[in-house]
Amino acid sequence: MVKVSIAGASGYTGLELIRLLVNHPDVELTVLTSETFQGQTIAEVFPSLNGVVDLKLRPLDENIANDCGVLFLALPHTTAMSKVPAYLKYDCKVIDLSADYRLKDPKAYTDWYSVTHTNPELLEQVVYGLPELHREAIQSAQFIANPGCYPTSVILALAPLLQTGWVDLDSIISDSKSGVSGAGRKPSLNTQYSEVNEGVNPYGLADHRHTPEMEQELSAVAGKPVRLTFSPHLMPMTRGMLSTIYINLNQTLTDEKLVEHYRNFYKDESFIRVLNPGKFASTRYVLSSNFCDIGLKVDSRNQRLIITSAIDNLIKGASGQAIQNMNIMLGLDEKTGLMAPAIFP
Ligand SMILES: NC(=O)c1ccc[n+]([C@@H]2O[C@H](COP(=O)([O-])OP(=O)(O)OC[C@H]3O[C@@H](n4cnc5c(N)ncnc54)[C@H](OP(=O)(O)O)[C@@H]3O)[C@@H](O)[C@H]2O)c1
Repeated sequence: MVKVSIAGASGYTGLELIRLLVNHPDVELTVLTSETFQGQTIAEVFPSLNGVVDLKLRPLDENIANDCGVLFLALPHTTAMSKVPAYLKYDCKVIDLSADYRLKDPKAYTDWYSVTHTNPELLEQVVYGLPELHREAIQSAQFIANPGCYPTSVILALAPLLQTGWVDLDSIISDSKSGVSGAGRKPSLNTQYSEVNEGVNPYGLADHRHTPEMEQELSAVAGKPVRLTFSPHLMPMTRGMLSTIYINLNQTLTDEKLVEHYRNFYKDESFIRVLNPGKFASTRYVLSSNFCDIGLKVDSRNQRLIITSAIDNLIKGASGQAIQNMNIMLGLDEKTGLMAPAIFP
C-alpha cells in the first residue's frame, strides 16, 4: 500500500481526493491537513465521510512529505509554491493541483498572477499532468502540475485538430461555463447563493488566468504560437463544466469525418468519449466522473466547427485527473479507482 497525504483536505478538491481514494485498492490515506479545522476529524468537517474516514486534521508542515509515497497539494495558488522544494527532498511524489507550476515561463506567471515565482528553476523539471498529452513524461516524474479545469476541457477538445491544417488556428473562441464549486469552498461575495442563483454571469473576459495555460499547451501541440479568445461564465449549478468552442474551417468537412479522426486520435484513452455525430456534450453525463465528453458539429453555412467538451471540474478538472496522474507515476493501471460512471439523474 502506498501512503498518501493531502494538504488542503478541508477544501472541495481535497474532499474529492478523499472520496475517490478511500475506494482505491493500492493506497492508504495517512495525513490530512487543514489550518482552520486542525484537531477536528475530517468527518466533523464533511459529515458525508462519517463512518468512512476518521483521520484527524493537522496543520501543514514539512513533515507531511516524510514517510509519504504521494503528496497531493490541494491548496490555493501561492500557498504551496515556496514549500514544494522542501517536499521534493523526500522520497515522495508531489502532485500540485494549484496553478503555481503550470506555466513554464516565470514571467507569464508574474504577468497573469501578479506574483513573482519563488522557484523558477523547478519549472523546467515539473511535468504538466495532462495524461492524454504527456503520459510518458508523467511516468517518470516526481513532481506534477495538475492542469486547471477550464484548460482541461479546452485543450482536450482542440488537441486532435492542431496539426491537421483543417482549421484556422487564429480563429479559436471558447465560451465556457462552470459550476460554482470551481471557485473552491472558501466563501466569497460572488459565489453566494443569492448572487449566483437564477443568473448566468460572464467574468474574466479576455483576461482569465487560465488563458496562458491553454495557449502554452495548444502551442506546444501545434508547433507554433496559438492564441484564443476565452469567455468563462459562472452558472447557477454546483459542479460541472462545459466549453463550447468555435473554430473556422479551412476546408469542407463532415461531422462523420471529424468524429472518426477524434476517435482515432484518442483511441487508447479511457476517459475521452467522442460522441456520435449529432450528439453534443452535456455536464449531466459526466458529473462526478473522470470522463471528458466531446461532441463535434460542422456549421457548414459558415464553414465553422463547433466543439462541445464537458467535464466535472472537480474530477477530470482536478482530483480525478490528479489520481490518474498518481496511477501513472506509480505504474498502476491508470483507471484504478476512477471508472465510475456519472451520477445521473
Ligand atoms: N475547485 C475546482 O474546481 C478546482 C479545479 C482545478 C484546480 N483547482 C485548484 O485546486 C486548489 C484547491 O482548490 P479548492 O477548490 O479545493 O479550494 P478550497 O475549497 O478553497 O480549499 C482550499 C484548501 O487549502 C487550505 N488552505 C488555504 N490556505 C492555506 C494556508 N495558508 N496554509 C495551508 N492550507 C491552506 C484550506 O484549508 P483551511 O481553510 O481549512 O485551513 C483548504 O483545505 C486551488 O489551487 C484551485 O485553483 C480547483
